[in-house]
Amino acid sequence: MSCIVDEIRREKEKQNAVILAHLYVDGEVQEIADYCGDSYYLSQMAQKTDADVIVFCGVEFMAESAKILNPEKTVLMPARDADCPMAHMATIEQIKKFREEYDDLAVVCYINSTTEIKAYSDVAVTSSNAKKVVSNIPNKHILFIPDQNLGGHLAPMFPDKEFHFVDGYCHVHNFIDPKQVEALKAEHPMAKVAAHPECAPEVRAMADYIGSTTGILKYAQETDAEEFIILTEVGVAHRLHLDNEGKRFFFPETRPVCPNMKKVTLEKVLRVLKEHNDPIEVAPDIAERAKECLVRMHQWGG
Ligand code: 13P
Ligand code: SF4
Repeated sequence: MSCIVDEIRREKEKQNAVILAHLYVDGEVQEIADYCGDSYYLSQMAQKTDADVIVFCGVEFMAESAKILNPEKTVLMPARDADCPMAHMATIEQIKKFREEYDDLAVVCYINSTTEIKAYSDVAVTSSNAKKVVSNIPNKHILFIPDQNLGGHLAPMFPDKEFHFVDGYCHVHNFIDPKQVEALKAEHPMAKVAAHPECAPEVRAMADYIGSTTGILKYAQETDAEEFIILTEVGVAHRLHLDNEGKRFFFPETRPVCPNMKKVTLEKVLRVLKEHNDPIEVAPDIAERAKECLVRMHQWGG
């Protein structure tokens, strides 16, 4: 294993490449990354980097966002087929229909959206900056796409606004079973419950803390408890254990695993670095419009 890690490091230095990894990829991939974090942190790192090549260990919308922010750089995905199903759960037709209906509509898209959807939206958000971004929007009507769970978590924070949703969700978080969470709570009555906002309302209602992947890590580190029930993708267990010696973390019995994030392997990282196969390309006209949506997110949510 160390052989492949050394080879990745050598190749990375030779090419002035940076490796970005989401916290849901396997621990050994997180370990070789220069920067590892949630979607917002990785988007910030992609915006700031002076590397010539970005290797994105995550899913397609993340790598496409990095390319949109850095059109002149080479952006590579080790698992080129790693896609987020939720990113395709809103349509341009839906956006157009809502725009026709409401004159003052602001279209807010979760960063987990295709480039086309970003091009038709006013601003993007991630789970860690959504509240801040929305608080900068003067419009009364908000079309929040595609995740109705994150949107449903946000809406009560803005009682003066009217939120509209489409039928979008993350199949990993949305199907965390409330009965399994109840069973875990009964088994570990002292445990604090931390949930991602992509979870369904009945699961979020059981949480002591709701936040992004990085938010959950921070909560576990800063909270004076020994046991935590973690309601997000199991990849976060790697950092939770590294950062919190002595604390115990429990996941639902049907472990929440994102099959797309798990497609990234060390072997694929090395291969894509060496071969530069199938780099991310985005059509310049939609890239330009999608960039405005992402730049606005960085301005309003930073
Ligand atoms: P965050 O990285 O914002 O926590 O989002 C989780 C996720 O599902 C990424 O696809
Ligand atoms: Fe998409 Fe859910 Fe996987 Fe994140 S965890 S990439 S939202 S399917």
